[in-house]
Amino acid sequence: MRILLENFTKKFGDLTIIDGMDLEVHDGEMIALLGGSGCGKSTTLFAICGIHKVNGGRIFFGDHDVTNVTTQERNVGVVFQSFALYPHMTVENNIGFPLKLRKESTGDIKRKVGEIAEMVHIEALLQRRPGELSGGQQQRVALARALVRRPDVLLLDEPLANLDATLRLEMRSEIRRIQHETGITAVLVTHDQTEAMSMCDRIAIMDAGKIVQITEPKDMYDNPVSDFVAGFLGSPPIAFLSGKIEDGHFIEPSTKTKIPLDHEMAKSNNGRTVSIGIRPEYFQPNNGTAVSGKVSFIESQGRETLYNVMLPDGKILRSIQGEGSVAKIGDTVEWGINAPKILVFDEDGKRI
Ligand SMILES: Nc1ncnc2c1ncn2[C@@H]1O[C@H](COP(=O)(O)OP(=O)(O)O)[C@@H](O)[C@H]1O
Ligand SMILES: [Mg+2]
Repeated sequence: MRILLENFTKKFGDLTIIDGMDLEVHDGEMIALLGGSGCGKSTTLFAICGIHKVNGGRIFFGDHDVTNVTTQERNVGVVFQSFALYPHMTVENNIGFPLKLRKESTGDIKRKVGEIAEMVHIEALLQRRPGELSGGQQQRVALARALVRRPDVLLLDEPLANLDATLRLEMRSEIRRIQHETGITAVLVTHDQTEAMSMCDRIAIMDAGKIVQITEPKDMYDNPVSDFVAGFLGSPPIAFLSGKIEDGHFIEPSTKTKIPLDHEMAKSNNGRTVSIGIRPEYFQPNNGTAVSGKVSFIESQGRETLYNVMLPDGKILRSIQGEGSVAKIGDTVEWGINAPKILVFDEDGKRI
């Protein structure tokens, strides 16, 4: 079921939190609302779900205007960070509860709960209570309860935030599998860029109540519209240097290194102060435009190692390298920047 927000506006008191947002989630698509804390992700999700009334604009499910339709009548499945299971009920009764509210027959409820439990792999747990389950199992129960009514859309608000790292990884792919199997249209609210990148067809990245870019994960990583987006995606993060464009090159101010830029772009921006963004995979030994600095920090990430290299003015470049690197803290290194992969931003942070 397609979800469409048209000029959606939400205020709390005098404060406008979302100001005229447009968003379309295609039928069968899973989209992430990604952004820092307080940017308006949950507010948007609650409006889609019908918990919040809107102060302006319209919300459509398919061609149906649901702006003034209650949550119960919208037929949405919702999963929150705090699984919100009923502690005194068995798993079976937790999952069946929405159907019981609808006064479906005991036989129908049993059959539907059985089917959905099988899909989320908790058939063996139906007679337990939530307190007897692990965090991941509770999350599966919450998902089953959200899906048992066959909702038109699935809304997930930071559903993995309370799980430990291993479970989070497992549940990421499980939620995606279930979304694929059901073909349900889904919106995932998260502040975790890896979650958004790995689980969703598209990402809508938000800042201060606005969607600043919406596209596929890889495209957003490669073609961010601003330094904000570039900085939000990627771990370890992209590094920024500021300096001037002169005669086709970016001049790094503290080492005077000249880094070649795209010809046309450099020509039309000659003399301009810009910042460049360099991702850690594009700053490597024996490759690209050499720049010299001191290794100031090393972090082993298991298979790979992160190096921070400090330039004379204190600016940091990051390099992520596989096995075989031998640099130590305090070493002076001369590593290369992969110039064609540089992202260039103007003084307002807009990509040029
Ligand atoms: N019920 C509410 N009353 C007043 N302000 C709220 C309410 N809910 C959220 N806000 C404010 O709206 C902004 C966005 O909140 P929220 O959508 O929860 O952010 P996010 O989910 O992105 O962290 C925040 O500044 C928050 O304080
Ligand atoms: Mg939130």
